[in-house]
Amino acid sequence: MRVLSGIQPTGRFHWGNYFGAIKQYIELQVDNDGFYFIADLHALTTVRAAAPLREYVRDAAIDLLALGLDPARATLFLQSDVPEVSELYWILMTGAPLGLLERCVAFKDKEARGIKADAGLFTYPVLMAADILMYDSQCVPVGEDQNQHIEVCRDLARSFNALYGETFVIPSARILKETAKVPGTDGQKMSKSYSNTLGMFEDAKELRKKIMRISTDSRPMEEAKDPDSDHLYQLYSLFATDEQREEVRALYLRGGFGYGEIKKRLADVADGFLQPLRERRAALVADPSVVDAALHAGAKRAREVAAGVLRRVQRACGLKP
Ligand code: ADP
Ligand code: TRP
Repeated sequence: MRVLSGIQPTGRFHWGNYFGAIKQYIELQVDNDGFYFIADLHALTTVRAAAPLREYVRDAAIDLLALGLDPARATLFLQSDVPEVSELYWILMTGAPLGLLERCVAFKDKEARGIKADAGLFTYPVLMAADILMYDSQCVPVGEDQNQHIEVCRDLARSFNALYGETFVIPSARILKETAKVPGTDGQKMSKSYSNTLGMFEDAKELRKKIMRISTDSRPMEEAKDPDSDHLYQLYSLFATDEQREEVRALYLRGGFGYGEIKKRLADVADGFLQPLRERRAALVADPSVVDAALHAGAKRAREVAAGVLRRVQRACGLKP
């Protein structure tokens, strides 16, 4: 099965990105034909300076490899290395109803927060649809917040198919229920935009400090608490083994514990998980040729597939004989 997903290089990856999205990429690369890309064209809608963008793109590639993306199994590439996507974007734009885009939450949210939207931000879901349809993707693993964009993609593909005949494969989103919304240090959804993130590659000491500052309520220690509605417990569950989770769960249900103790446990399990990843990352930084080779081979393979699909689309709509 062709599995595809993209991630924007707009900052360093946090636990929400990993458990909501990247972890699925890595699991799915084993039995599928995985296409994973760094959405640098999308990032242009928010990162407005060359040097930081270049750095984020590079970090994203290194991070993905360090987190376990295996270039021998999956295709890793930069969105902008496949110019065919920009042509497909235009073709899809000509069939994208304005109302459909106006309803998109990502755009509505930014507008509501007073960020002046440009055409790039407004048509962002159409570029995302091009990304997906470009490679005949069947399955798109993402976090819950991207579901609406996948629906837009399906709509655009279906209307194109209805107009010009069967051309596009209709993709499905794949969203993991239990990690669809990883909470941040304040209990809201973890997001760069809310400054409540815990990074996958943050300095170990800094990370521990941030964990100790995770917000908690002020109920007395003795009181029993519902683990399922507690963000500290949810964060702990990301890293804990079943046994560790059950133990902490029992503490919550019984009462008589301090949140500080749970935070220490969280810092320990997280550190145990993250330390080998930090080491893998350091090795990739020391030998950048691994990263360059992965991106080079990935771009080549992605372009081959994209060229075939674009020809099919051009023929279907009359651009090519
Ligand atoms: P951010 O909100 O920090 O800007 P992005 O929008 O760049 O993150 O998200 C990249 C990927 O990570 C997407 O697939 C998104 O669904 C997923 N993701 C981001 N934050 C979370 C979260 N808190 N829980 C689960 N998945 C998330
Ligand atoms: N919009 C996605 C995000 O912010 C990134 C993305 C771009 C993407 N193109 C995609 C995800 C195609 C899945 C498929 O996370």
